[in-house]
Amino acid sequence: MNCRQNQEFENLYASSILGKVLFPNPVIQQRVAQIGKAITDDYCKKEPILVSVLRGGVVFLTDLSRKIDLEISIDFIGISTYQGSANISTGIVKITKDLEENIEGKDIIIVEDIIDTGLTVNYLLRNLKSRNPASVEICTLLDRNIRRIAETKIKYTGFTIGEEFVVGYGLDYKQKFRNLDAIYELNREIVKRDIEINEGSRNENG
Ligand code: IMP
Ligand code: MG
Repeated sequence: MNCRQNQEFENLYASSILGKVLFPNPVIQQRVAQIGKAITDDYCKKEPILVSVLRGGVVFLTDLSRKIDLEISIDFIGISTYQGSANISTGIVKITKDLEENIEGKDIIIVEDIIDTGLTVNYLLRNLKSRNPASVEICTLLDRNIRRIAETKIKYTGFTIGEEFVVGYGLDYKQKFRNLDAIYELNREIVKRDIEINEGSRNENG
């Protein structure tokens, strides 16, 4: 019997944890193509390195990179953030996997899934700038600017969102739902209960 015929199996897309679709895949693809075009124009004759922040930025990076008509390279950095109360990051960040490439003199584009308080990406900016790249810019699929703590200059933004916690297209809830092709709101009641349980726990960033 295959997985789909098993009555016990809850289809991923039918999970009660998921709320409404915020951004369907075709809408995401259209926006990603626009950002890819903007990067192609802005970095004409340059060879930028797209630095994806593991793990949430990876799905966005794979689609975005194929919409950029330049000789780019890609690299990955892994970071973990200490989560404070109410799931707001504290900005206390640790690198769990460093870049493979030497970025000195290179044009860097940080590719993020979502910028919330801005603390994580600001740490990353400081860290990458200390390696003397030619330039560092930020490209994020989602911007939740209403919770911003650290002022952040974002060059490319996919969509701006509000308070809602979102999953899919790389974004996770407890490491799940990254493989959904659209971006969904999470069911608020379920998240609220969980935030209380998670309070003060250490969490790998994604
Ligand atoms: P901050 O900007 O330092 O607050 O943290 C941003 C990181 O928190 C993102 O890269 C995500 O990994 C995670 N994050 C924030 N909001 C969400 C969300 O709604 N869904 C999934 N992950 C989120
Ligand atoms: Mg992230």
